[in-house]
Amino acid sequence: MVDCQIRNMDKGFGAEVIGLDPTTDINAETRAALRKAFDERGVLLLRGMQIDFAWQDKFCRMLIGDDSPGSTETRKENHVSNKEDDGLAPYGRLMFHADMMWHEEPFRVLSLYAITTEPGSATTSLTSAANAWATLPEDLRRKVEGKHARHQTGQVYHRGGDDLAMPQRSVEVSTIKPIPHFHPATGKPLLYTSQQMTHNIVELPEDESEALLLKLFDHLYSPAMVYEHEWREGDLLVFDNITMQHARGNVDRDGPTRTLRKVIAPIPNIKAETPRYERA
Ligand SMILES: [Fe+2]
Repeated sequence: MVDCQIRNMDKGFGAEVIGLDPTTDINAETRAALRKAFDERGVLLLRGMQIDFAWQDKFCRMLIGDDSPGSTETRKENHVSNKEDDGLAPYGRLMFHADMMWHEEPFRVLSLYAITTEPGSATTSLTSAANAWATLPEDLRRKVEGKHARHQTGQVYHRGGDDLAMPQRSVEVSTIKPIPHFHPATGKPLLYTSQQMTHNIVELPEDESEALLLKLFDHLYSPAMVYEHEWREGDLLVFDNITMQHARGNVDRDGPTRTLRKVIAPIPNIKAETPRYERA
């Protein structure tokens, strides 16, 4: 028996999981239903959860078929936080992106759990690159199909304002992927271009490339395509980091406390440099 309700959210992606008890083991039927929902809908939202790092880690791994008890002892618990000394991305706005989009093989599952989110905390927005490809107007589809895009670390700063977070790395890294990019697990075609990380379409001159990318972004990030999550403590938002793109509004050190526990799966093999965040 499936031990929870799974209700589709209304943006053409996402599902809310209701009534899952984190104090008992998740049975095989429920695991299968959750995996199916995750593959098909790209996002799972669970509200009012009282969960620790180990549960969040196990849940994320379960969604990609890893049911091992696992050991979290050697893993550092990471928080996206504007108040903690070692918080990730402690301030600034983040344009839409997928984590590690600049790498050949980004990790699949990204989860955020609201430990402390005071009223007025910046929201997290999500859009689906699968939906965006499926609904892309024919003229745009013809213009991009078969081309390739280059994705790079950092943010494409000229597309944002002074409020952008500025991730700093010692070496910038990039990768080139086809459009559409086919999801390695679901096989779905994705409009795999993002405001934050896609620098250019390699087959086009710079001005044409930017003009076309801006049209794709108008489609990807139009209000009808975006789900904006307002955080409440105990929310767990889990999304497919390859299908979905995420963004967040400006976060200030002096603003409302916003501390989210971030857990990903699987852990990438590469030793990725964690960026420092500094204003220019
Ligand atoms: Fe991110």
